[in-house]
Amino acid sequence: LKELAGARVFLTGHTGFKGSWTLAILRALGARVTGYSLPAPTTPSLFEESGIREHLEHVEGDVRDLPRLTEAMRDCAPDLVVHMAAQSLVLEGMADPIGTYSTNVVGTANVLEGLRSARSVRAAIIVTSDKCYEPSVEPLREDDRLGGHDPYAASKACAEIVVDGYRALLATSDAVVATVRAGNVIGGGDWSANRLIPDLARAMLGDRRIVLRYPRAIRPWQHVFDAVSGYLQVAARALEGDAGVGKAWNFGPNPAEHLDVEGVVKRFSRSYGSDLDVMVEPQSLPENPALRLDSELARRELGWAPLFDVEAGIEATAAFYRRRAEGEAVGPLLTRQIDSMLERAHASGGAL
Ligand SMILES: NC(=O)c1ccc[n+]([C@@H]2O[C@H](COP(=O)([O-])OP(=O)(O)OC[C@H]3O[C@@H](n4cnc5c(N)ncnc54)[C@H](O)[C@@H]3O)[C@@H](O)[C@H]2O)c1
Repeated sequence: LKELAGARVFLTGHTGFKGSWTLAILRALGARVTGYSLPAPTTPSLFEESGIREHLEHVEGDVRDLPRLTEAMRDCAPDLVVHMAAQSLVLEGMADPIGTYSTNVVGTANVLEGLRSARSVRAAIIVTSDKCYEPSVEPLREDDRLGGHDPYAASKACAEIVVDGYRALLATSDAVVATVRAGNVIGGGDWSANRLIPDLARAMLGDRRIVLRYPRAIRPWQHVFDAVSGYLQVAARALEGDAGVGKAWNFGPNPAEHLDVEGVVKRFSRSYGSDLDVMVEPQSLPENPALRLDSELARRELGWAPLFDVEAGIEATAAFYRRRAEGEAVGPLLTRQIDSMLERAHASGGAL
């Protein structure tokens, strides 16, 4: 993406799982990145283990702190803002709804407010989630109803509304603002609590037992490279001045590739090369049985397509955790995976 080479990027949430991948991909594409985040949310952490901190301007800060955020954004004078910082976990949202709303909703408003005063910004990508929709078993399209039956999901629906509420205020600025909604993102280096892939990686390092809460739940599993490539394709179009991309975008796997939780577990343990003892713990809280994203808009208007089918995405993810467990250094491992993904994306004529 030539628009990103040399571009100044202000990335929030760069110490998290997707943020670290985004940072490493932006770096490979030649962007100059300032990261603004709280410290890495997990131990271990991809951000810390990979050493990518060396390749950016690292600002430790809270998105709820408007003066500090605005100052950092002004200092960076970005062309592009990518807002990923969030309280990103459903269970944590139930434990701390107010903290979740303040980070995910007010934090998003603060980023947009900062963007208004940093006059350099030409493009902004606001990362929400597939969970921003009113739950439905039908494939979800961008104009479907927003909603959410837990604080995390509701906070992401609210973030979408906050962005819409800012559109009129941003009309006089040059910034094209898009929201992006990806599915259940998988990839190496996620160590979050109560997420399937990190739980599997921890089981492989420990007692090889995994407890599943909703084994039959179908989700739009997708490799992190594909989600980020979608976000950056929108960003590149916005940087070119295409105001038409200033709207909501879904990025999910191909329709036939929405696996259930048990299917992911089987494929992960096969790719990792190790068996697991699987247990199911019945849950009292209801869970959406199937969440499917319709990404037709991104395919049609951006020419975006996933590089990975779900099988290959799980394989690359399991390989990352296995190599790390075998003692490979995480920084070079991340760089190698990204370089080979970028090469394959070029070879297949993809925009990245
Ligand atoms: N991982 C997924 O499957 C998935 C799916 C859809 C959407 N998302 C969204 O993508 C984004 C990144 O997700 P992730 O999986 O990398 O999450 P993560 O929990 O690994 O990282 C979250 C990041 O936000 C930062 N952060 C949290 N609260 C903050 C605050 N108050 N101020 C500043 N920084 C703060 C953390 O330090 C970290 O850098 C989030 O917006 C998340 O909601 C994730």
